[in-house]
Amino acid sequence: MSNTTHESQTFSAESYFETQPQPPSLVADTEGVHEFIQRQQQANRSVVLVTSGGTTVPLELNVVRFLDNFSAGTRGATSAEYFLKAGYAVIFLHRQFSLQPFSRHYSHSTNPFLNFLEIDAALPSSSTIDSAFPYSNDPPPTTPTPQITVTTAERAKLFSVLRAYKAVHALGTLHMVSFVTVNEYLWLLRAVSREMSVLGRKAMYYLAAAVSDFFLPQQRLSEHKIQSGKGNLSIEMDQVPKILKPLVSEWNPEGFIVSFKLETDEMILIPKAQQALERYGHQVVIGNDLHHRKHRVVLISPVAADATKKLDGALVSQPKYAEFWIEIDSHQPSNHPKEIEEDIIEELLKRHNVWIEGS
Ligand code: PMT
Repeated sequence: MSNTTHESQTFSAESYFETQPQPPSLVADTEGVHEFIQRQQQANRSVVLVTSGGTTVPLELNVVRFLDNFSAGTRGATSAEYFLKAGYAVIFLHRQFSLQPFSRHYSHSTNPFLNFLEIDAALPSSSTIDSAFPYSNDPPPTTPTPQITVTTAERAKLFSVLRAYKAVHALGTLHMVSFVTVNEYLWLLRAVSREMSVLGRKAMYYLAAAVSDFFLPQQRLSEHKIQSGKGNLSIEMDQVPKILKPLVSEWNPEGFIVSFKLETDEMILIPKAQQALERYGHQVVIGNDLHHRKHRVVLISPVAADATKKLDGALVSQPKYAEFWIEIDSHQPSNHPKEIEEDIIEELLKRHNVWIEGS
């Protein structure tokens, strides 16, 4: 790629996978997912694929610069915990280093765990700042063995997080797979979806990842770092194929599929969510606006095609889509805040059950 524009191309999902490189770890990742699904099938569990975090679009092959999509992974990581709590097995397909179930409570940026650890007061403290550092050349003290404890204020919360974390690990119901680029995400989504098709209606998709709409095909990437000496940089990107289409119609037509719609203008949230349902024919779109997403979301779903009701003796057709708003108080106590994901998952589980029974 030089510092000029290029003819863009339209990729279908099919042509995308024919022309864009398969990630080196795809085979191993798919095998891991395959084994996980087999174990969950034997245990007769429903499985949900939770996608989480933002995808990147590299601008160079030896990547120095890339475009990123906004998402910390809070929605995905929090939701995964509520699915696990409800007895679901979770495949957590997430952006590397974004928030994860359980450890999210101790994010290094908002609640670093070192802040609530204490060293036994009986131990001699360091006399100088230099000797306090582990990089000091002195050998580490061997006796007495240092005792580290959790501050009293944090103990109850840590205990409940740790207990849930250990229980999930003992049960083996959480499987983690990570991506960085949109290309890795798309290949993984296809591979995992195909693996999940053996579950039929017991498979749920909860697509909370923020996926790039535009990308640069591998064939047009500059090998080395784009040089700044040539003046302005113009890049013409191609559209990422709409991957929900083959997911719904080919990879797992039986699956219960929930996608998200993020907008910054609340006025267009519902029309855009309805448009997605119209286009892809899946089960639910969760609309959230950027500034209120932690306190208010709307679930949009299609109403059965023949839904009509009688009003004053006349048959009146129902609206095509139903809205279901979920809202929680935006002022939550800091020690035990209510999380909107709890209510979202509760509602989705009811609908998934109906979906399973509908088979
Ligand atoms: O992680 P947080 O900081 O908590 O933020 C959560 C969130 C706001 C990112 C999340 O709640 C959310 O809204 N995610 C979807 C963002 C979005 O608008 O995605 P989209 O318009 O690019 O895609 C719509 C849907 O299709 C999404 O479910 C997406 O995962 C899926 N998609 C999109 C494109 C594509 N090629 N493949 C997809 O699967």
